[in-house]
Amino acid sequence: MAIARWSLRALQLLKITDQKNSRQSTLNKSYSRSWNRRQFLKTAAAALALPTIVPSSVFGQNAPSNRITLGVVGWGMQGPGNTGSFLALEDCQVVAACDLDKKHLKSAVSAINDHYKNQDCKAYADYREMFARKDIDAVMLAVPDHWHGILAVAAAKAKKDIYGEKPLARTIAEQQAIVRAVQQNKVIWQTGSWQRSQALFRKAAEIVRSGHIGKITRVEVGLPAGHNDFARTAPELLERLGKTKGDCELLATIVPGSPEWEKVVSAPPEELDYDTWIGPARMGPYVKTRVHMNWRWNYNTGGGQLLDWVGHHVDIAHWGMDCDNSGPSELEGHGEFPAVNAIWNTATKYRIEAKYPNDITMIIAGGHDDIRGGTKWIGADGWVWVNRSGFDTSNPDWKAGKNLPEEMRKVKLYESAGHQRNFVDCIKSRQPTITPVETAHHSAIPGHLGLISMLTGRKIRWDVKQEEILNDTGASELLSRPYRAPWQLAA
Ligand SMILES: NC(=O)c1ccc[n+]([C@@H]2O[C@H](COP(=O)([O-])OP(=O)(O)OC[C@H]3O[C@@H](n4cnc5c(N)ncnc54)[C@H](O)[C@@H]3O)[C@@H](O)[C@H]2O)c1
Repeated sequence: MAIARWSLRALQLLKITDQKNSRQSTLNKSYSRSWNRRQFLKTAAAALALPTIVPSSVFGQNAPSNRITLGVVGWGMQGPGNTGSFLALEDCQVVAACDLDKKHLKSAVSAINDHYKNQDCKAYADYREMFARKDIDAVMLAVPDHWHGILAVAAAKAKKDIYGEKPLARTIAEQQAIVRAVQQNKVIWQTGSWQRSQALFRKAAEIVRSGHIGKITRVEVGLPAGHNDFARTAPELLERLGKTKGDCELLATIVPGSPEWEKVVSAPPEELDYDTWIGPARMGPYVKTRVHMNWRWNYNTGGGQLLDWVGHHVDIAHWGMDCDNSGPSELEGHGEFPAVNAIWNTATKYRIEAKYPNDITMIIAGGHDDIRGGTKWIGADGWVWVNRSGFDTSNPDWKAGKNLPEEMRKVKLYESAGHQRNFVDCIKSRQPTITPVETAHHSAIPGHLGLISMLTGRKIRWDVKQEEILNDTGASELLSRPYRAPWQLAA
């Protein structure tokens, strides 16, 4: 199944529709959101020490000036969790929700209203109507990557402070547009790279930044490989193919024109505005396993495991390397890919070598056993490794405790009291958050460039200051994507 790399000709295929190869079937089974609602309620309840009952008279147009009013966009895997944390903050008021799936929107509004015990949350199918509201201070955006650019730029131009998700966007050009819009409109930006708000990640980065492992020589970033059926939609499709049990990786082998393809394509469900969901991406037939949650496994809408995780573990790597505003100048990647037109076409296995200033080499890998999941900095005098599941280091004395002893903290990194808390505090103080937009941009760049290297099969030389690929027109074309009309980034 896997091929070493895609040719540039194959890349052109990304830009044309595969609609002509499809036959829309009438299969249209409903998609239960109940687990998501349970997940949301659990998050909100866990975040709350005491139930908060706020009278409805303080909501909406007349929100008190000390309470930040928030609109939330996207109620899928991440939106409910983010929103639950905002609901737990007494100086924040969630007043509006937007989604273009009617079932998701209904869940959002009822979860928010249930929390406040009123009916004040307004529902929107169109983000532009929500952003036009003058009484909304800030927005939380948890939409698929192909929508990040348009929504974030529109929100910044509407002068909303923004909690946006990682990776910053689907392409480097979109990221640059977001950075510009945030800077020009002077809005506060927080990225969903929440690991920075966790003590153990800060402790690891502080050990490195304080010089305790000596000069850094190598950084290893281990990310997941393959694909995950997050939406749990694969079994239904596999059943249509007559497979009662099956590996969801089968979806990475199904291409237009095959008998299997005919069985997995269907009409979009009534509740989803599929045309708008595709938005600026390339239009194609509806396949349930490449829409909600699983959009990450097709380069039309996402960036695979590499771009899904780069905003977590490379973000932490950069924190320890003091690279929040810089990055690698040379990258070479190798990956294994399904066919370019397969339902899931993102890399199943990948390895990128990136050259940073001061002779530091970073390896970013998925599916390679020699690179442990998480972030590991290796220096002349020792090493530190950190992941969500743990912390390890060459020096046993550094292991105890979530925080580094004061005397070891030669460099004290930004401390946040919680990722959403930090965003709201920064909206009030107008100070940078713990993961401002420039940080998110630089954290994702190695992922984007590594992918471009894998897709073209060439080493990429990157001008860090000018943010340009040097001497490679074909690779430079992949810094942006054509937008499907009428969608465009706000001028
Ligand atoms: N920080 C984290 O730990 C973390 C974890 C998971 C996902 N994420 C990020 O969150 C974002 C969303 O991912 P997800 O897994 O929740 O996706 P999802 O598919 O589960 O949910 C996205 C929701 O957005 C809606 N939507 C899509 N386009 C829209 C538009 N133009 N206007 C309004 N609603 C729209 C969809 O209908 C859906 O309900 C991604 O950027 C992802 O990388 C972050």
